[in-house]
Amino acid sequence: MFESGIYAKIPEDMPETLALSALDVAGAPAQTAKLVKPGDTVLIIGAGGKSGMLCCYEAKKRAGVTGKVIGLCHSERSTKRLQDLDLCDHVFAADATQPVPILETIEELTGGQMCDVIINNVNIPDTEMASILTCKDGGIVYFFSMATSFTKAALGAEGVGMDVNMIVGNGYTRGHAEITLQILRESDKLRKVFTELYA
Ligand SMILES: NC(=O)c1ccc[n+]([C@@H]2O[C@H](COP(=O)([O-])OP(=O)(O)OC[C@H]3O[C@@H](n4cnc5c(N)ncnc54)[C@H](OP(=O)(O)O)[C@@H]3O)[C@@H](O)[C@H]2O)c1
Repeated sequence: MFESGIYAKIPEDMPETLALSALDVAGAPAQTAKLVKPGDTVLIIGAGGKSGMLCCYEAKKRAGVTGKVIGLCHSERSTKRLQDLDLCDHVFAADATQPVPILETIEELTGGQMCDVIINNVNIPDTEMASILTCKDGGIVYFFSMATSFTKAALGAEGVGMDVNMIVGNGYTRGHAEITLQILRESDKLRKVFTELYA
């Protein structure tokens, strides 16, 4: 083991299964906490999934009342789940492999301003362009999804002439366990959904 190998203490105020389910994707909400600034417009792709829901909560917390969080879901079930959680300013359903309709929806929702930060949490390939095209010039795209292709992201951005900062989803960022477990303490609704789905 490396001296820098990571570990976290299982907290005493929640069941082990609940803590482990959130820690599995702890890098995503912790990176969100680091990347999102007050007033930002943030798009979460795959927002109704495990990491997506945590990212929506953290993005809204960081963007604040002057910011805007948009959740892109897929199935009817995950879309309804996210709507009921009331974490986002807007929730809509789309296929993230089809970038043009998503681009049009985001143009409409942001009045053409597009997004400062995009967090990609899907579990399928071919969603790089939806992430890149919805970003504003100089914005940030964080690819947490393991289905991301470096080639498609890099050459795709070049192909559409988008100067955006793309971040590979390092599963670790400082404070990732603390930030993620704190979400389950702060949000009763999210804790209930996580308990039902994963614990
Ligand atoms: N970077 C890292 O260190 C790290 C660590 C852990 C996990 N991951 C990766 O993170 C990703 C997400 O993990 P997770 O546990 O949050 O997965 P998850 O709970 O399965 O969520 C994935 C989401 O993607 C959505 N989705 C599927 N097809 C879609 C489409 N065509 N258009 C739009 N959305 C679509 C799903 O929506 P529906 O359910 O509605 O279909 C689901 O909500 C995975 O790729 C995983 O490998 C990365």
